[in-house]
Amino acid sequence: MQLISAISMKTIFPTAKFQQLRTPFYYYDTDLLNKTLQAAQSEADSYGYHLHYAVKANANPRVLAIIRAAGFGADCVSGGEIQAALAAGFAADKIVFAGVGKADWEINLGLDKDIFCFNVESIPELQVMDNLAAAKAKTACVALRINPEVDAHTHAHITTGKKENKFGINLDQLDSVLDVLDRLKNIKLIGLHFHIGSQLTELEPFQALCERVKTLLADLAKRNLHLENINFGGGLGIDYDNPNAHPIPDFGSYFKIFHDNFPVAAGQQIHFEPGRSIVGQCGSLISKVLYVKEGSVKKFVILDAGFTELIRPALYQASHLIENLDSHEPEETYDVVGPICESSDCFAKDIQLPQTQRGELIALRSAGAYSEIMASQYNCRQLPMAYFSDLL
Ligand code: LLP
Repeated sequence: MQLISAISMKTIFPTAKFQQLRTPFYYYDTDLLNKTLQAAQSEADSYGYHLHYAVKANANPRVLAIIRAAGFGADCVSGGEIQAALAAGFAADKIVFAGVGKADWEINLGLDKDIFCFNVESIPELQVMDNLAAAKAKTACVALRINPEVDAHTHAHITTGKKENKFGINLDQLDSVLDVLDRLKNIKLIGLHFHIGSQLTELEPFQALCERVKTLLADLAKRNLHLENINFGGGLGIDYDNPNAHPIPDFGSYFKIFHDNFPVAAGQQIHFEPGRSIVGQCGSLISKVLYVKEGSVKKFVILDAGFTELIRPALYQASHLIENLDSHEPEETYDVVGPICESSDCFAKDIQLPQTQRGELIALRSAGAYSEIMASQYNCRQLPMAYFSDLL
C-alpha cells in the first residue's frame, strides 16, 4: 500500500514577482503548508495522538511559527534547535530532545527550560544527564530511544532502526539500561522512543514497528514497568516524482496503521515526530539558468543554484522534479547542473525539459524539507533567501 494521497493541488508560481528577486531562493507555498498541517492535525486528533514537528527538516523562523500556530510540539536534536523552537514560541513542555551526542550545555539548556522529555540513547548519556540534573537539583524526564531492529527499506543514509546503526539502545541491552536507571536518582523514565528511518512510502515497516513495540511493552510489564509515553518518531514519505498530484501525504492511512496495530493502554500517550511529510511539498528552490552548454555528447543546463543550496541529490541520490517556469518550447534532453566545482554538483541527468535558455527560471520541487536547512557556504557562496507566497 502506498502512502500518498489523491488530493491534487498545483503550486502556482508568481513568476512575474520572481523577476524582481535575486536567485537562487526558496519559495514556500503558505497555503499548502497550512493545509498539510490541518490534514496532519485532524487525522492525529481523531486518535488523540500528539505531534511534535521535527525541526531538523526546516527551521526557517516563519515556517516554525506557522507550525507552532497549528498547535504542534517540537522535536529537536540540538541546543540550537531548542533555541529556534523557543524563539518561534513553542512551549517548553511540548519540546522533546533527541540525538546520540548531546553536549553538556545542550542538556543543561533542556533542564533549565524544563522541556517535556529527553530521548536518551545510551548508558553514558544517562549518567551524564543524571549528574547535570543533580547539580541543578532537578529531575530529567527521559524516554529511552530503542533501536527496534526494523528495516525501513529506504536509502541507507536515512535508515536508522537497524542493529548496525548508531542510533538508540539495542534491544538486547535494554535490561542493563533499566538496571542502571534504577540507581539514577535524578532521572525519571516516562517513555520509549523509536524512529526507523525517513522517506518511507510503504506502510509495512510501521506495522512491523508496532509489533516490535507491543512485544517490548509486554516484556517490560513483566518487570512491572508501565510507560506512559510511546513515541513512534517520524518517517512518512512524500511523492518527489509528482508533487502536484500528491501535495499532501496520506496522514489518514499512516495514523490508521498505528491505530489498527497498536492498542493504547489506559493513560498512555502516543507521540509522533513528522518532519518531511509536513514541510516537504510546500517548498521549491527557484533558480535561474546561467548558461546552456552544448558538450560533445550532452547538453547542460547550468543553474545559479548548486548543492550549496540543495544537497539532497548529491548526498542521497535524491531526485527532485525540475520545471522550467518560463519555456513552453518542445522538449529536449539535458543534464541539469550547478556552478560548484565538484562533479557531484548535478541535480539530474538526461531529463526532458522544454527547450531552455539563459535567464529562464527553474523550480526544483519538493524542497521544503532538508533543503534550505542543509544549505552551506562552500565556495564562499551566500546562503539563499526565503520568500512566502502570502507575503510576496
Ligand atoms: N525523529 C527522529 C528521531 C529523526 O531522526 C527524524 C529524521 C525524524 C523524527 C523526522 O523524520 P521525517 O518525518 O522527516 O522522515 N536529510 C535526510 C533526512 C534525514 C532524516 C533524519 N531524521 C534527507 O534529506 O532525506
